Amino acid sequence: MSKHKKRIGVLTGGGDCPGLNAVIRAVAKTADNNYAMEVIGFLDGYEGLVLNRFVNLDDKDVSGILTRGGTILGTSNRANPFKYPVLQGKEYVYLDRSAQCVQNFEALGLNAIVAIGGDGTMAASAALMERGLPIVGVPKTVDNDLEGTDVTFGFDTALQTATEAIDKLHTTAQSHHRVMIVEVMGRYAGWLALGSGLAGGGDIILMPEFPYDVDAICEQIRLRNSLGKNFSIIVVGEGARQKGGEMVVKRRVETSPDAIRLGGISYQLSEQIENRFSIETRVTILGHLLRGGSPSAYDRILATRLGVQAVRLVERGEFGKMVAVKGNTISWVPLTEVAGKIRKVTADHSWVTAAESIGLCLGIPTSIPLSDYPTDETRVDISK
Ligand code: F6P
Repeated sequence: MSKHKKRIGVLTGGGDCPGLNAVIRAVAKTADNNYAMEVIGFLDGYEGLVLNRFVNLDDKDVSGILTRGGTILGTSNRANPFKYPVLQGKEYVYLDRSAQCVQNFEALGLNAIVAIGGDGTMAASAALMERGLPIVGVPKTVDNDLEGTDVTFGFDTALQTATEAIDKLHTTAQSHHRVMIVEVMGRYAGWLALGSGLAGGGDIILMPEFPYDVDAICEQIRLRNSLGKNFSIIVVGEGARQKGGEMVVKRRVETSPDAIRLGGISYQLSEQIENRFSIETRVTILGHLLRGGSPSAYDRILATRLGVQAVRLVERGEFGKMVAVKGNTISWVPLTEVAGKIRKVTADHSWVTAAESIGLCLGIPTSIPLSDYPTDETRVDISK
């Protein structure tokens, strides 16, 4: 390494998604081509920085990764440097390893870290900035729920996967005259449910933001039947819940910053529908399929633009920022403004109003405005 060359460490944290490799590639290529900077990649998110585990990322190391899903660096949704889980006997204890991060950063002669991740990674990055580490964040998640950016890469690919699944389920729904419930990921936000429901021609879309009314759902099924449409497709976000009910927690991962893993609300709904109709109902939970696969063209371009912009910020010494999409431009927001926050679907969003306009049921009676619905966040834990 030449003495004056700048050196960047890049890492991917949180759940994987399509497009992570495209960002890594863009960071490594921009750093090399434009600024003659060196890049290393920490393995498994912030765990790599804590444990000083990394690989060099030269041009040849990032060749051919644009189209690959996942992340060549590995990731972890447990490696919060401030609450780092260490197994002692049979129990985890949580240690503050932020000082170790600073020490490793300095020993490696780094000038900056590019942290690609979701709300948890952005929160850890903002806290590490407080300890003096110069960090630029890059937002990712299939959930599309990060504050401060109009969209996250990974979402478009997941949307496409979910839409294709809904297309396929349509034929069975039609042939067997059934209600098909398709459950998609998304945590506490309904972007994946809403987007894939719209694109896949779902009849009923249920999102965490708007607790549903089973009567309204059954009314829609009945209405469709009366029009000779003897099947229905319901697209449900994993965080959806009945009005006055609770989110369904599938399991808990105590070492993860957000321990809750959602999933299974569809079974509850399926039972409720079958109890009221003699119509057969089937459940398909798409789960982690939505995080896999080669990124769409849109995600590849977006991820590349974000990676390029992250290195530009590093070059200019503009740290503590997360690169972000604002309309058609790539901009940035302060990390402290977005750390740990999530962006939910709002009743006035154009996708919601479009869904309403074409007569889709959003799980509530048409007589009640969507905005009047309660937003308390109770959860039922089926993981214990
Ligand atoms: O945040 C991405 C996401 O896929 C969510 O949609 C989902 O709730 C969660 O991660 C699943 O996490 P895990 O991979 O730990 O099961």
